[in-house]
Amino acid sequence: MKNTKNFSRREFIGASSLAGIGFALSGTPLMAQSLAIPTETFTTSKKFKIGIIGCGNRSKTIIGALNNVPEIEIAALCDIVPHKMKQRSELIKTGDKPKFVNNLDDLLNMDELDAVAVITPNDTHKEIVIAALEAGKHVFCEKPMAITVADCNEMIGAVDRSRKALQIGTQRRHSGEYKALIEAIRTKPVGKILQSGLFDYRGDWRVPEADEYPTGTPYWRLDQKRSGGVVYEMGAHIIDVNNWVFDSEPVSVCSLQGVNNFSLRKRDSSDHGGVLVQYANGAMMNYGGNVYNYGSNALDTFFGVNGTLQMGGGKLSIKYGFPNGFPKPKDLPQAEQISLTGNNREGDGVVEQLRHFAKVMDGKEKPYPDGYIGRQCVQILEGSVRSAQERRIIDIKELG
Ligand SMILES: NC(=O)c1ccc[n+]([C@@H]2O[C@H](COP(=O)([O-])OP(=O)(O)OC[C@H]3O[C@@H](n4cnc5c(N)ncnc54)[C@H](O)[C@@H]3O)[C@@H](O)[C@H]2O)c1
Repeated sequence: MKNTKNFSRREFIGASSLAGIGFALSGTPLMAQSLAIPTETFTTSKKFKIGIIGCGNRSKTIIGALNNVPEIEIAALCDIVPHKMKQRSELIKTGDKPKFVNNLDDLLNMDELDAVAVITPNDTHKEIVIAALEAGKHVFCEKPMAITVADCNEMIGAVDRSRKALQIGTQRRHSGEYKALIEAIRTKPVGKILQSGLFDYRGDWRVPEADEYPTGTPYWRLDQKRSGGVVYEMGAHIIDVNNWVFDSEPVSVCSLQGVNNFSLRKRDSSDHGGVLVQYANGAMMNYGGNVYNYGSNALDTFFGVNGTLQMGGGKLSIKYGFPNGFPKPKDLPQAEQISLTGNNREGDGVVEQLRHFAKVMDGKEKPYPDGYIGRQCVQILEGSVRSAQERRIIDIKELG
């Protein structure tokens, strides 16, 4: 097998077949009958059992979403803080009562589990994902995939060796809103996208309850090494969308980021950041984020050769234009607004990504977003932190 590091995403999809995870399919899924779920909504040949690792804040959303995915049953919960498992089990609406397991090895030794969902702090993703793949489990891993590109390469290596699926939790890839954005950019006469202006301004991270972490364990989001700061924790979503829009490899990253609002709780994780990225197709991304916003969020904008698209507030507006000094094109389209609500454009993609993951386990779909897409996002995240720390432009290739 060719060394994964040099695999471009397209090659990876070509090379690695998911044959290993196909199951013999026969007639109407039994489970659909027993659960009286209309067969057309039950999309897999069997019900899959998943173990949730990390029963913190995000697990509430994932458990809520899984309540709407009849193809997946939560069979086990795992957290290093035992009382959280009971709290989360109360949110589970379907299936049998899950087992509570407070160490990873015991959970991975549960043969009945087909998969795990990794919903723990960012710096723990690599170790847990690799252990799970090597234990023969499919893995749904929350974003960001990992802290470094080197970590991502090791995780992709484990996918290759185990032939199990790894899907990354950047849910916008399954959200109606962002699919509408991609569709507009691919089909409307806006021309090639040359630059983007993207923003993530929000309030500060929540204050955990006193008993949320083992005594003396500081909150990981205030620790740069554990979280990656504002660009990792927030930027991962829209930066991944930008990779999707540009459909080109990031080449160079330049960034300034750090701690500058000393009215916030003491931390060493960045509370603001600006990131510039140059892509192989010449396009440029311009990202800004902070955690001290008390106002409304700014609109995300994509600038094309013949049109500008702005997204926000449940709508996508497109204005068409032509460069000064050139005659107005006869067929210049009218500006338009596309509503991003209704026509099942709701749904931020959380349920949809898990429904897709069920089909992945059933051998019907490939993981999406996969480890390559996850890594491409981490290339920009890690590159941005290195650029800010070393005060220089980072060539993505340096990251491995
Ligand atoms: N996709 C999204 O929109 C989204 C939103 C929020 C968070 N997240 C991601 O989800 C992950 C978790 O974030 P959160 O807000 O739930 O954090 P959190 O701190 O609330 O929860 C993390 C949980 O993991 C547990 N944990 C830590 N190490 C563990 C280990 N080795 N084994 C088992 N449990 C362990 C902690 O005790 C805690 O309960 C992060 O990667 C974050 O970036 C994604």
